[in-house]
Amino acid sequence: MTTSVTTATIRPWRLDCHVAAGDDGGAADELRRSLTATSPTISPRWFYDDVGCTLFERITDLAEYYQTRTEQALLDARMDDVLGSVRATELVEIGSGAATKTRAILDAMSRAGTLDRYVPFDISPGIIARSASELAAAYPGLRVHGVAGDFGRHLGKIPRRPADGTRLVAFLGSTLGNLDRTARRSMVKRLARLLKPGDALLMGTDLAHDPAVLIKAYDDEPGVTAQFNRNIIRHVNRVFEGDADPDDFVHAPRWNARASRIEMHLRALTDIHWSLPGLGISVEIAKGHTIRTEISCKFTREEIEGLYGAAGLVPQSWDEDALGRYAVSVAVRP
Ligand code: SAH
Ligand code: TRP
Repeated sequence: MTTSVTTATIRPWRLDCHVAAGDDGGAADELRRSLTATSPTISPRWFYDDVGCTLFERITDLAEYYQTRTEQALLDARMDDVLGSVRATELVEIGSGAATKTRAILDAMSRAGTLDRYVPFDISPGIIARSASELAAAYPGLRVHGVAGDFGRHLGKIPRRPADGTRLVAFLGSTLGNLDRTARRSMVKRLARLLKPGDALLMGTDLAHDPAVLIKAYDDEPGVTAQFNRNIIRHVNRVFEGDADPDDFVHAPRWNARASRIEMHLRALTDIHWSLPGLGISVEIAKGHTIRTEISCKFTREEIEGLYGAAGLVPQSWDEDALGRYAVSVAVRP
């Protein structure tokens, strides 16, 4: 079921919602298939209920999770230059989440004197409502138009681009790395379709480097990532009346060198019989077997610029930190 509800009035921001209680029918079919496959997986979209969004914010503050602070520093250092060549009036942010780093972009647009509209797009309506109200209050005069949807299905619901402005689309947090090779190519192409000549795409991507450092970023000492991973079971239980005990699973991250990616699994501590009446299935997971919940691919510059090229975009800037761990890059539609 897809609902399209617009809440507006009084508030200086609006939110269009294309997901109902975290589910929109297509997502349920996908989950039924992926959970009954020989190697079961759960789409990472199911991480992000309200609890998951809060846990993810805690991940971004972890000492081990260098990605967020590195991306923040790159944005702080580079956005004025980016805005010097791309005079963006509108920022569309895909997978915006808590939209904390967004402020570095909005501040630069504001300094450039071009800031007009912010369009956050995320699977979680709750987190958009929060970030939209915070940002509308922090930037008087900014129009904020949120869209809650699945970026695999609902990018077409993004409001039409202003006829006489310039659009910057941002895809941060290395969320691109959570897609497999095929999905990445199609994602960058679909993002490029949101752009007219002169518009730009900004991406933050984690780079391939020391596996020990990478693994730690997904296996922190305080165990926040483990909690985040197990919360996916709780979320699926709630939406589909499931009965699995999250504590019967242990967080199991792995480095897959061949595919240059971290893989997140949940390993069964016992034989698990997971009944999910809402999906009309039950899932058997033998002790020691796993459900894969996430991939997080680590890139090279060539790969990212190849993706831009395949989408008809021209790489414009590439900035990485001194340790070569993370990059922020911009490409324009010619
Ligand atoms: N941009 C933020 C958050 C990154 S976490 C940062 O850099 O810190 C990934 C974000 O993408 C989450 O907010 C999650 O809710 C959202 N997300 C995950 N899967 C999604 C999907 N299929 N469609 C839309 N948003 C999704
Ligand atoms: N885009 C983030 C990443 O791949 C998402 C993420 C960070 C994540 N930590 C996680 C996903 C732990 C699942 C589990 O770095």
